[in-house]
Amino acid sequence: MATLQDEPSRGNREAWRLATEWIRSSTPTVCLIHGDVGTGKTHLAAAMARDECERFTGIRFVVEQEFYDDVRASFDGEGENESVLVTRAKTCPLLILDDFGMSKQTEWNGALLFTILNTRYNSRLRTLLTSNLDRPRLMKRIDQRLSSRLFGDCLDIALVGRDRRVQ
Ligand SMILES: Nc1ncnc2c1ncn2[C@@H]1O[C@H](COP(=O)(O)OP(=O)(O)OP(=O)(O)O)[C@@H](O)[C@H]1O
Ligand SMILES: [Mg+2]
Repeated sequence: MATLQDEPSRGNREAWRLATEWIRSSTPTVCLIHGDVGTGKTHLAAAMARDECERFTGIRFVVEQEFYDDVRASFDGEGENESVLVTRAKTCPLLILDDFGMSKQTEWNGALLFTILNTRYNSRLRTLLTSNLDRPRLMKRIDQRLSSRLFGDCLDIALVGRDRRVQ
């Protein structure tokens, strides 16, 4: 299981230090971990979640696309109720959205994402994003009103190096 005591891959020591500092502080409210495939973004986010769990409760860790799938499934009465899923995403103290900005953009998921992140923005609740896309690329993909809220006050952490899955 991932922990912040793991050895960062080469070139990522400072990124891990920044990530550790961010998870133990309350500002800025948004953190974006970006980097190429297999550089360890999900691993680091999981380690941060674990660290936070040791001190606080109320963390949600979801892959963006899977969250939409879960909400859609709830319309057919599967899994958890829609309002529980959405309210939890809006109000949990720390929301981690893994693979952010990689889903196919539709009007429906765009509106859902906006309502969640706008509520979190207004309540100053922390959100951690991981993405293969850096901030300028994400800003081209997502709605301007959403990027303004997300990136107005955001810590960017870049992970570098080779794909750890490929030896
Ligand atoms: N610091 C680390 N120590 C040990 N294993 C690691 C570390 N960082 C990453 N890994 C391992 O390397 C593999 C790839 O990491 P991870 O899935 O976090 O990459 P990613 O950046 O999220 O990739 P993708 O862009 O495809 O989502 C995983 O098996 C993960 O457990
Ligand atoms: Mg990942």
